Amino acid sequence: MKITVVGSGYVGLVTGACLAEVGNDVLCLDLDPRKIATLREGGIPIYEPGLEDMVRRNAAAARLRFTTSVEEAVEHGTIQFIAVGTPPGEDGSADLQYVVAAARNIGRYMDGYKLVVDKSTVPVGTADRVRAAIAEELTARGLKLHFDMVSNPEFLKEGAAIEDFMRPDRIVIGADSEQARDTMRQLYRPFQRNHERLIVMDVRSAELTKYAANAMLATRISFMNELANLAELLDADIEQVRQGIGADPRIGYHFLYPGVGYGGSCFPKDVSALRRTAAEHGMEMQLLGAVEQVNALQKQRLVNKVERHFGADLCGRHFALWGLAFKPNTDDMREAPSLDIIDGLLARGATVTAYDPVAIHEAKKLLGERIRYAANPMAALDGADALLIATEWKEFRSPDFEAIRAKLRQPLIFDGRNLYEPAAMRELGFDYEAIGRR
Ligand code: UDX
Repeated sequence: MKITVVGSGYVGLVTGACLAEVGNDVLCLDLDPRKIATLREGGIPIYEPGLEDMVRRNAAAARLRFTTSVEEAVEHGTIQFIAVGTPPGEDGSADLQYVVAAARNIGRYMDGYKLVVDKSTVPVGTADRVRAAIAEELTARGLKLHFDMVSNPEFLKEGAAIEDFMRPDRIVIGADSEQARDTMRQLYRPFQRNHERLIVMDVRSAELTKYAANAMLATRISFMNELANLAELLDADIEQVRQGIGADPRIGYHFLYPGVGYGGSCFPKDVSALRRTAAEHGMEMQLLGAVEQVNALQKQRLVNKVERHFGADLCGRHFALWGLAFKPNTDDMREAPSLDIIDGLLARGATVTAYDPVAIHEAKKLLGERIRYAANPMAALDGADALLIATEWKEFRSPDFEAIRAKLRQPLIFDGRNLYEPAAMRELGFDYEAIGRR
């Protein structure tokens, strides 16, 4: 099939590469000429395991091409994926200007049937706006061309995006016409494993499904964080509680890990946008308000623990921080809890040296010279009063504790990701504080 993907960011690139991988003829559009130049040279502008190889392989086979020409892009694909950014506006609602601009371009240049698929995360009702924008452009050209509109939200996790796309646990399709549904079924046939993954519904329900999923997961995390804080007060162990409740299949083990609060490009933005949508319809989503409040507090949790130990004035104190990215296997720093932790430490007069396996480059863009950066985990520890852990990178799981102890001024670790066993840490002579653990 001939497919155009509008927007060569994270979602667009993964979608384009994976659709090319199964044999489609894919053209990716981006208005940023530098991004397209990088992609044409075989580089990728983001860090995502497996993506670079996949892009190169499919580009070499000429199944995946890149352009800055809107006209060429609209002409190419019978299926037009819209995968542009929807950054949060000042009031927390999703900013739809790029989505609407993409729609207008389609209306401006299309000369036959198009199936327009929205992959960007957009508020309920956006498909109608996209449809209206395309229709307006067609009317301005004096044309009456048929097109269909589909909502096909993405559920990719950063760091596992290729796997999520190639082996999805579900593919949500919101479509209003039989032709659109058939085309989408055909398009996704190669990604069905041994049973049906396609869940077909109406457009508005598909749009809401995306927000519902992320809001539910964010709620679980805030709930576990609050429960972990309570466990500390009660002298209970959240790790044992987690296993005890996760064994109930109605609850399940996934997304039950307390920590330093959720971050990233999706949860904070989507929870806030969903609240906003509800408010626009005269409804206050009480629960989601609390989810956000709990998360904001949790991002301060590690700093509060440091404060309890050293007092509010941290002048002259120096801290090592392991992990900057909002989660492992990504260099993404958007809404990363590490930023709140760093802010909190610096505001109290401390200095920080941070290490992250891949996110240092991104962190430098945001933090510049406010902190120091180390080339490896051990180098971050020199002369530090304590080690703080903000991201659960694999390489932090089993470090050389003797070396850590030798480097720190005192054997003190504040672990925001519960990587180690408190009892074992005590035996190693560490003062170890985790989240919700005894
Ligand atoms: C999320 C959704 O999982 C994905 O389906 C959607 O398409 C986009 O948003 P992502 O933001 O990449 O994906 O990361 P995810 O792995 O879901 O983690 C989100 C945040 O929650 C991270 O900050 C992570 O540390 C935190 N988290 C996750 C917890 O604190 N505890 C958990 O148990 C799980």
